[in-house]
Amino acid sequence: MDRPDELTGVMIARRTQTNEAARCAVLLPALAALPQPLALLEVGASAGLTLLPDLYSYDYAGHRVDGLDTQGPLLACRPCGPVPLPGAVPDVAWRAGIDLNPLDAGDEADIAWLACLVWPGEKGRTERLHAAAGVARRHPPRLHRGDLLDDLPAVAAQAPPDATLVVYHTAVLAYVEQARRQAFAAAVAAPRRRVALQRGAGRPPRRRRGPATQRVPVDPRRQ
Ligand SMILES: C[S@@+](CC[C@H](N)C(=O)[O-])C[C@H]1O[C@@H](n2cnc3c(N)ncnc32)[C@H](O)[C@@H]1O
Repeated sequence: MDRPDELTGVMIARRTQTNEAARCAVLLPALAALPQPLALLEVGASAGLTLLPDLYSYDYAGHRVDGLDTQGPLLACRPCGPVPLPGAVPDVAWRAGIDLNPLDAGDEADIAWLACLVWPGEKGRTERLHAAAGVARRHPPRLHRGDLLDDLPAVAAQAPPDATLVVYHTAVLAYVEQARRQAFAAAVAAPRRRVALQRGAGRPPRRRRGPATQRVPVDPRRQ
């Protein structure tokens, strides 16, 4: 360790932040099943890479869905069970993210930090991160600095009224204390649309069943 002061400074300044575009492969069937067009609002959006599901392409064990950015990554996902695989990416009319510390895909240091937090041995994840960051640089999502509970109403109010507002989140509630998780669950309860990809999303525990979809090669439960 040649530069301990620099290392200490980075560790103090940075937060645990990953951003895994491949989670969009699991979100896509749910998003495509909703009335279109969509207004996407992701809480815990990090650099916004999971805010771009319509821009990536997908390969669901041979079922291809082409994304709108032809230079974007191809996300492989093996469906298990009767997953309603979409024929096309959803129609996204508006998108925005909220994060305590939004990262900038155009900032080399921010992307380097995200790359540092990729788990060792996860084949292809670093390459996918850089490919998705390229999409975010070409199509920068609107990211708001704020808290998922306190700042949700103000950002949601900016969504166009004629689009289906979908509040979604992946791998964020683990960082939120239980009482605030429950308050968040109440804030986004029906009739609002909420899509969650994580355990402990504020609902009572259910009998364990197999996953509807399984991404390969990344396990979505690892953040
Ligand atoms: C593990 S990352 C997941 C990022 C992205 N959703 C994904 O799945 O790739 C969790 C993100 O949640 C953010 N976060 C944690 N607590 C938050 C809160 N209370 N409000 C908003 N963002 C929060 C962190 O800053 C971080 O960027």
